[in-house]
Amino acid sequence: MIRTSMQTMKTIILWLFLFSFLRTSNTLDSITPTQFIKDGQTLVSAGGGYELGFFSPGEVKGRYLGIWYTFSTETVVWVANREVPLDDSSGVLKVTDQGGLVLLNSSNGTVWSSNLSRTAGNPVSQLLDSGNLVVKDGKETNPSNFLWQSFDYPCDTHLPEMKLGWNLVTGLDRYVSSWRSTEDPARGDFSLRMDTHGFPQIFIMKGAKIQTRAGTWNGAGLTGYQGKPNPVANFEFVLTKNEVYYEYTLINRSMFARYVLNPYGLAQWFTWTDYSHSWEPFVSSQADQCDNYAFCGANARCNVSNTPVCACLKGFVPKSPKDWNSTNWSEGCVRKTPLACSSADGFSKYSNFKLPDTSSSWYDKSMGLEECQGLCLRNCSCTACANLDVREGGSGCLLWFGNLNDIREFTSDYQDLYIRLAASDLGLRYRRLSALVPCFLWKIIGFLLIYSHIRLRSTLSEARRKLDSRNGDYRGEDGEDLELPLFDLTTIANATNDFSSSNKLGEGGFGPVYKGTLVGGEEIAVKRLSKNSGQGLREFKNEVLLIAKLQHRNLVKLLGCCIQEDEEILVYEFMPNRSLDFFIFDQERQKFLDWPTCFHIIDGIARGLLYLHQDSRLRIIHRDMKASNILLDNDMNPKISDFGLAKTFGGDQSEDSTNRVVGTHGYMAPEYAVDGTFSMKSDVFSFGVIMLEILSRKKNRGFCHPDHRLNLLGHAWTLWNQNNPLEMVDVTLCDSCNITEVLRCLHVGLLCVQHVPEDRPSMSSVVLMLGSEVKLPSPKQPGFYTGRTVTVPESTSSTTDLFSTNICSTMFLEGR
Ligand SMILES: *[C@@H]1O[C@H](CO)[C@@H](O)[C@H](O)[C@H]1NC(C)=O
Ligand SMILES: *[C@@H]1O[C@H](CO)[C@@H](O)[C@H](O)[C@H]1NC(C)=O
Ligand SMILES: *[C@@H]1O[C@H](CO)[C@@H](O)[C@H](O)[C@H]1NC(C)=O
Ligand SMILES: *[C@@H]1O[C@H](CO)[C@@H](O)[C@H](O)[C@H]1NC(C)=O
Ligand SMILES: *[C@@H]1O[C@H](CO)[C@@H](O)[C@H](O)[C@H]1NC(C)=O
Ligand SMILES: *[C@@H]1O[C@H](CO)[C@@H](O)[C@H](O)[C@H]1NC(C)=O
Ligand SMILES: *[C@@H]1O[C@H](CO)[C@@H](O)[C@H](O)[C@H]1NC(C)=O
Ligand SMILES: *[C@@H]1O[C@H](CO)[C@@H](O)[C@H](O)[C@H]1NC(C)=O
Ligand SMILES: *[C@@H]1O[C@H](CO)[C@@H](O)[C@H](O)[C@H]1NC(C)=O
Ligand SMILES: *[C@@H]1O[C@H](CO)[C@@H](O)[C@H](O)[C@H]1NC(C)=O
Ligand SMILES: *[C@@H]1O[C@H](CO)[C@@H](O)[C@H](O)[C@H]1NC(C)=O
Repeated sequence: MIRTSMQTMKTIILWLFLFSFLRTSNTLDSITPTQFIKDGQTLVSAGGGYELGFFSPGEVKGRYLGIWYTFSTETVVWVANREVPLDDSSGVLKVTDQGGLVLLNSSNGTVWSSNLSRTAGNPVSQLLDSGNLVVKDGKETNPSNFLWQSFDYPCDTHLPEMKLGWNLVTGLDRYVSSWRSTEDPARGDFSLRMDTHGFPQIFIMKGAKIQTRAGTWNGAGLTGYQGKPNPVANFEFVLTKNEVYYEYTLINRSMFARYVLNPYGLAQWFTWTDYSHSWEPFVSSQADQCDNYAFCGANARCNVSNTPVCACLKGFVPKSPKDWNSTNWSEGCVRKTPLACSSADGFSKYSNFKLPDTSSSWYDKSMGLEECQGLCLRNCSCTACANLDVREGGSGCLLWFGNLNDIREFTSDYQDLYIRLAASDLGLRYRRLSALVPCFLWKIIGFLLIYSHIRLRSTLSEARRKLDSRNGDYRGEDGEDLELPLFDLTTIANATNDFSSSNKLGEGGFGPVYKGTLVGGEEIAVKRLSKNSGQGLREFKNEVLLIAKLQHRNLVKLLGCCIQEDEEILVYEFMPNRSLDFFIFDQERQKFLDWPTCFHIIDGIARGLLYLHQDSRLRIIHRDMKASNILLDNDMNPKISDFGLAKTFGGDQSEDSTNRVVGTHGYMAPEYAVDGTFSMKSDVFSFGVIMLEILSRKKNRGFCHPDHRLNLLGHAWTLWNQNNPLEMVDVTLCDSCNITEVLRCLHVGLLCVQHVPEDRPSMSSVVLMLGSEVKLPSPKQPGFYTGRTVTVPESTSSTTDLFSTNICSTMFLEGR
């Protein structure tokens, strides 16, 4: 007995010894001039979040010294020798006696070194818990007095507590620069930096050209991101005579988040989620065309919800009306009437604008608004003014000179901007002449308002009374209540001829859809939800309100809902041109879809999906993207339908959900179809299928080829590898096609349907890839490309052929 436990003790001690030996030989927590780190070893932060070591990105041979997350070793946040890779794994990182860091190659040549502004007697290098690699004097008592720190030399990632901006004393400019490609950390074309002309602002630049402007700091946030609130970080902007920078800290310090500028120039936020063990993107710098710097030219405003998106500011007219009419916005707008250059001018006030470019501006932190406006009126070249800081009712003064560039409209009010106009353009002159008329008009309007208010209130309380009678629990919050119209069941029944089968448009995933015509003549689409959601009334209404807040020009608009007599009904705008599948798979109707239209449709779907994934406040995974869910409006603009329903009404899709997998065979990503795990990348897969279907005008499900048993994806993949990709593009489509664009779409389509979710691009990358000429990575093998029959776990359904390549010979499947 005793002997056995002695034996065990010995083994344990031996293991402990071995373990500590292994540990000391492979990981270190600091290095001094007597130590070094060689390839294969790492330097780990005390909290264990980050480590520094040697790596090779992708399939590249060269070795780089970098910092990554211990739990996500693929995610490199900093690279030392980004321009000069080591040829082999003989690299060594050392601290010199003076405190410099040097990276040596096999012949002891210096491949990279840190710059030293001063030296120290007892240098020690550590990787801090923030991911900052520092060198400090071992005897130094001030914990933040570093000889050198990697945070002063960012690569493509802006980490929490990293300063982005200038040390005005030393002239050090800390800015983020993209990698050249996903496999080459060398400095790429794009940078994210603070510009100190005028009031400092943050730009994403491509070379020397401004790509996107995140805007200035107004005390509450960056003025360019007001439409995109960030729930995880607190921001700070520091402007003194020594320093100007911008940094953020995480609200939850035990989280990990990063802001990355990718090689395509897109800056994105990611947070680490433990449950999915992956990085989830949530806000990106460029979501739509209005995010392109000065998209509408000078003195114009950009609003993605309007057609056309650009409009001159009030008091301005297009500089070149001919170009402007042909949607060439580059010339912008000019004043109708020149400024009087006296206090006879006035201001026109806007509250929902992204403040214009401040490259040519002047500011004062203490001046109030009135004084600020007075100052502007006294200077002939001043064109606009605003408070510098919006906190506590506003303070400070910001003046603009010359043209007003890069203004976009937001949906809500954030900050007041006063744009200077000549009196005549403000309508001041007429106001006095016709003072009597408005007075009379106001009385009438006032009366009408009161009357309609009473009407509205009584309609609303009627609706609420109906709700209350169904569910005693329900109480509406006054004020915010009922942003979404409640339709009466009798109205809907009347509009759809009592849900007559002749009005039925189709059967969607969650119930039948009817066409309806309201008494006023307005056409609507009515979705009568199947009665199994088992939800309470309040939950239903809350969910519908959330869905109604998702608004984008590539999403079908929800007009209202109806909850009555056990019915749950959603009312949508009606799309006269039906859905995409109605056109692409029909030989007659295909002719309406020439290449430019197809390209426009692809682009629109991508933007709609990007909005769902990243730019709306609720992140929505669609889960049932397919050609029949892409509706087309009068002008053949695509609009995604049925979004938000999967999460809300589809129930929980985990394996124990017995009766329904939301999703459609032929479009479902392998990981979703087989394991039931879905993510944004499963939507990307479905999007890829839709793209390939548009190009080939053939259904993925049901595709047959005389020579092989591959499905459409497999067919496309084979032709791609045979260097003959255009073979799969429909011949009639190519009458009108632009080969470059078609090839690009095909390429992106194949990237989207790759087997491994992580390999698929995010929708923001897809949008950029479609719209630019960036180099694309080579696609890997698609998921589900051969005719296999896969057994879906018993609980989900019985054996099902998921991608039915062999449907031409056998029409089995869906044994339900
Ligand atoms: C590199 O330097 C180390 C330590 O100074 C020395 O031991 C080694 O021989 C040198 N290697 C070469 C190739 O010079
Ligand atoms: C090591 O680096 C030096 C200096 O950069 C260079 O001249 C030398 O060729 C490199 N040696 C090897 C084996 O890469
Ligand atoms: C060191 O300073 C030089 C010149 O100021 C600069 O070009 C170089 O990039 C700096 N090196 C590092 C590692 O920051
Ligand atoms: C902070 O983040 C950690 C890790 O993600 C999580 O476990 C914890 O619940 C979060 N705390 C709060 C207050 O959200
Ligand atoms: C531009 O379009 C407007 C409205 O459609 C029209 O009134 C105007 O004449 C057009 N101008 C030019 C130069 O084509
Ligand atoms: C737009 O108009 C400007 C000025 O007239 C011209 O230089 C430019 O080429 C036009 N752009 C396009 C795309 O037509
Ligand atoms: C108007 O402002 C500009 C820019 O600050 C300045 O250069 C100019 O002197 C000012 N003019 C007057 C009359 O104050
Ligand atoms: C755009 O304009 C529409 C109508 O003119 C307005 O309702 C909306 O708030 C504006 N802004 C955005 C971002 O849509
Ligand atoms: C629908 O309402 C209109 C006007 O109130 C009425 O004329 C019509 O008969 C109604 N139709 C049905 C089917 O109830
Ligand atoms: C789309 O709908 C509009 C309005 O109903 C119609 O004028 C147009 O011809 C339709 N387009 C196609 C291609 O069917
Ligand atoms: C084809 O599309 C590319 C990229 O959109 C464009 O640069 C090129 O001019 C187009 N070619 C033709 C012939 O339209």
